[in-house]
Amino acid sequence: RGKCDLTGWWENDLGSQMHIFSVNSQGDFRGEYHTAVSSAQKPIKPSPLHGSQHLDEDGQCTFGFTVNWKRFSDSTAVFVGQRFVDASKQEVLQTAWLLREKVDSLQDDWKATRVGRNVFT
Ligand code: BTN
Repeated sequence: RGKCDLTGWWENDLGSQMHIFSVNSQGDFRGEYHTAVSSAQKPIKPSPLHGSQHLDEDGQCTFGFTVNWKRFSDSTAVFVGQRFVDASKQEVLQTAWLLREKVDSLQDDWKATRVGRNVFT
């Protein structure tokens, strides 16, 4: 496991958890995202994630991943971020996300994208 490898369990400030299964030599990874919150009507289910990360030696690599909520929602989310190690030696992922909601018509497009930030430890 390299210095920047994101493999493992992470939890964010909303209480959402993600499990990154393994990162290959190209920096590509898959995992499962367990969101703590949802704007969908159906009950929340674990959702597949696909991502790609840099494998830099300094441990402060950037990455991105997509979550397809297809098991309970029509939405799609993308996250981008960077790994750091904080003053207490804890690994932290600083991320920003876009959440695209499905709307019924072009007229409703303006309200379909949410933006936010999450910190994972
Ligand atoms: C939906 O509401 O349609 C699907 C779930 C979306 C969860 C969002 S993604 C960005 C934010 N960070 C989380 O951990 N959960 C929410």
